[in-house]
Amino acid sequence: MKAEYAPNEHLLTEVVLIERILDLKEKRNAVILVHNYQRPEIQDIGDFVGDSLGLARWAAGTDAEVIVFCGVHFMAETASILCPDRVVLLPDINAGCPMADMVAAREVKRFREERPEVTVVSYVNTTAAVKAVSDYCCTSSNAVEVVIRVPGEEVLFLPDRNLAAYVAERVPEKRIIPWNGFCPVHQGIRGEHVRRAKELHPEAEVIAHPECTREVLEQADHIRSTSGMVKAACDSRSREFIVATESGILHPLRKALPDKRFYPPIVEPICPNMKLTTLSKVLRSLETLRPQVRVPEGIRLKALRSVERMLLSEVS
Ligand code: 13P
Ligand code: SF4
Repeated sequence: MKAEYAPNEHLLTEVVLIERILDLKEKRNAVILVHNYQRPEIQDIGDFVGDSLGLARWAAGTDAEVIVFCGVHFMAETASILCPDRVVLLPDINAGCPMADMVAAREVKRFREERPEVTVVSYVNTTAAVKAVSDYCCTSSNAVEVVIRVPGEEVLFLPDRNLAAYVAERVPEKRIIPWNGFCPVHQGIRGEHVRRAKELHPEAEVIAHPECTREVLEQADHIRSTSGMVKAACDSRSREFIVATESGILHPLRKALPDKRFYPPIVEPICPNMKLTTLSKVLRSLETLRPQVRVPEGIRLKALRSVERMLLSEVS
């Protein structure tokens, strides 16, 4: 007699959710853009999965009417800056970035009044209002290239002090004034977390994100943006890697390189904001076309200049 199995409700629900999302995506003429830190099941429904720069470039190039942004608020804002005539959906409106909230536009304005000779470069992890009062914008994959190109000798780099230090080391001809912001997730990766992972996996190379502290970056064989990490692991001869960034990246790494081994540091770094997006919320946002992220036109036009400069810069 054939064994009878109770249906796996969790799986069934997931399959049905995915079917409905894909169906509605067609009807709405939508694209789903997904950051590398999102949950695996969200990455698997993405039309494009990538880092902040790749996502912004994809948003700028799409002719879809609706962009479902599976990431955090500043990423959806960047898409809205680039595509004002599209509907940009952020499935959970509470998905923010604590680092982006560590600098306010009024603080940057005040700095500019006091030091008008300094060029302001803002990391893409900032609000649209901050981008609007910045000269240039950059991401982790082109921060060094952007800073090399900007005019003047002094640069206010905000908000990430760790990325600022990383850039300052590589661009000694400029004086970098760092803002005192940081990503709580990367700040929480300690040197000893990586050292202990290396003791467990002595053959592994270390790949780190430049938002990490110096004590982590000093142990890294490769320092890259999230998509740059996938490329570095593809290009390396090593079979094993310790990956010092948010754990969502392990999914694209393992998908791209199933024969290689990827380990998080001894304490696994998780960004709770990145995990807020779920399949049910994606479906709901496509059904209701809410919650939308739309940058007011006055701010958008000012922010567009720095964001366009970011898109033009090469990637290291
Ligand atoms: P990238 O994917 O651009 O490297 O950025 C990492 C990040 O912190 C996004 O919040
Ligand atoms: Fe912000 Fe850090 Fe989370 Fe990225 S990982 S969204 S920088 S808190």
